[in-house]
Amino acid sequence: MILKIVKYPDPVLAQRGAEVTEFNAELRQFVADMFETMYAEQGVGLAAQQVGVAKRICVIDLSFGKKPEDKFVLINPEIIESEGRIYEEEGCLSFPEIRERIVRAARVRVRAQNEKGEWREIDGEELLSRCMQHEIDHLDGIQFIFRVSALKRSLMLRRIRKLQAEGEW
Ligand code: NI
Repeated sequence: MILKIVKYPDPVLAQRGAEVTEFNAELRQFVADMFETMYAEQGVGLAAQQVGVAKRICVIDLSFGKKPEDKFVLINPEIIESEGRIYEEEGCLSFPEIRERIVRAARVRVRAQNEKGEWREIDGEELLSRCMQHEIDHLDGIQFIFRVSALKRSLMLRRIRKLQAEGEW
């Protein structure tokens, strides 16, 4: 089932997600729905907050469903190592048409559970590193516009207000 994407400034986007403790059929269905929603929106990552659920669950697939090895479910994830620095443009399904360069670690190692509750570690570089950091930020209630300077943020907010006024948000 395709879920509705929540856009800024919905307050759920600013909520820290609750830890997941039950790995049941309901969770597996929710994860499947998140993938379906992400593919429908042509995104590469989606956090539970973006479909209105404040839980520590996100999905990532840099291949848009083409390569099974690029498909990740991160439940209760934490960044356990990070190094280097990159500065690349990011977008977010909760901020349609808004793109901005964000400073991120170049490489991260993330520890997370999958939908069966099994823990594993995922090493990411470049786009996967950025994507995991962006999605884990969502689980902490941090939206990418809060990762830029106050000046850039005010320009982004002005553009959002313009899109809202035009009925395109
Ligand atoms: Ni996002």
